[in-house]
Amino acid sequence: MEIQVDKQEKYIFIETFGCQMNENDSERIASVLKGMNYRVTDTIDKADMIILNTCSIRDKAEQKVYSALGRLKKIKLNKPNLIVGVGGCVAQQEGEKLLKRAPHLDVVFGTHNIHRLPTLIKEVNIKKNRIAATDFYNSIEDSFSDVYADDSLTDESKRVKSFVAVMRGCDNFCSYCIVPYVRGRELSRRSKDVLADVNRLAESGIKEVTLVGQNVNSYGNKNQDISFSELLQTVCKVNGIERVRFITSHPKDLSEELINLFGDEEKLCRHIHLPVQSGANIVLERMSRGYSREDYLNKIYKLKQLYSDIGITTDVIVGFPGENESQFLETMSLVKEVEFDNIFSFKYSPRPETKAAAFGDQIPDSVKEERLRILQDAQREITLSKNKAMVGKIVDVLIEGRSKVAKVKKGTNNNQFTGRTSCNKVVNILEQSFGLTDEDIGKILQVRVERASYNSLLGVVENQMHFSG
Ligand code: 5AD
Ligand code: SF4
Repeated sequence: MEIQVDKQEKYIFIETFGCQMNENDSERIASVLKGMNYRVTDTIDKADMIILNTCSIRDKAEQKVYSALGRLKKIKLNKPNLIVGVGGCVAQQEGEKLLKRAPHLDVVFGTHNIHRLPTLIKEVNIKKNRIAATDFYNSIEDSFSDVYADDSLTDESKRVKSFVAVMRGCDNFCSYCIVPYVRGRELSRRSKDVLADVNRLAESGIKEVTLVGQNVNSYGNKNQDISFSELLQTVCKVNGIERVRFITSHPKDLSEELINLFGDEEKLCRHIHLPVQSGANIVLERMSRGYSREDYLNKIYKLKQLYSDIGITTDVIVGFPGENESQFLETMSLVKEVEFDNIFSFKYSPRPETKAAAFGDQIPDSVKEERLRILQDAQREITLSKNKAMVGKIVDVLIEGRSKVAKVKKGTNNNQFTGRTSCNKVVNILEQSFGLTDEDIGKILQVRVERASYNSLLGVVENQMHFSG
């Protein structure tokens, strides 16, 4: 019998840093390498290849990558045939420099180079070359038509929900943001490719899809495809898909048409992530965001007026260059006025090539730290009180799997299940719902909320079929 080394099953371990775009890219990496007989493993010792899929949105994220890369040095020393690769935003940003910095690194592949991985890996294996591939490919045909998620990544929830990339890159050039430099110009996938992807996922049993892109509201603008609202409507029609989400929206591009869609499309989850970044007009202007505090609040009021149950989350940056105390207080007042369900808040971090990194009036870290603490403390109370207001309500929960974070009492099994509401709150199902089994994963169940904490809600399943049987 002929034995071909290439036909042997090999294992790949992927560590993903950063945003949903990267999570989706990791799935794509797994799917591209499947063709080379690599299967995903979550055991690093078993791996023939280790890939770090990296993020450089803030300096802290970038430093995490270097620490992870450092840890791989010893593993490679003990296993010389191991292939070590770095992809994602740090790979794009640093390119060849990474190879110099880490002699145990074999391949660096930028954000547009996932489709080239088989060729790059062959070159590493056969020619024993070390390679950095960071070219941008600016047509869909080159590098973006075949994007599809692979379900071989090990997270249990991946059996229920999946991300689908609808676009990549960004043309907005917000003055603090590195994304346009590391992910290139905005490029939308063809709607028929997106739809084929969603249909395939539905057939494989996926119940919830989240359409992802840096700025989904401008989907299709450049290639005269359907609008994002139309795309959402089409995706909502796919049989088997019960829930549709999207991320991230830009406040300046959030259309009336899209706002109204929350009322028209039952499958469209009542949650929007709408990054505000700052509550002060002068800061928003220096950030080049393209909207004012008032514009933002008007859109929020419209959303809240139409759908009182909508979940609204946001991103906020504190300590942007030149941000003074009263401008920071304007952010605080906006956060208190909107009462977001949650916020992701960050200290401003100067990034290479960006406009704001060259601004003269940088803020000391101690001030940023203090502002972040004040903001997070205030939001913690808002989140908690909004979660508490859910107690007693009956919510629809898509069951994603068994709860990993549940603190299981000694001597009992982990039979707590977890899922999310339409408005994106995590709900853990209390043990009283003991009738739940793995069969219920992927179902939408009605849950009565009994308790609420900052991170999640706890509830019991209402009218559970199992109880009557
Ligand atoms: N510093 C701090 N936060 C940043 N973000 C993007 N760039 C920076 C930066 N240079 C935040 C923004 C964005 C989120 C994904 O990350 O809030 O919405
Ligand atoms: Fe960055 Fe602004 Fe583009 Fe968002 S819209 S990815 S913050 S440049």
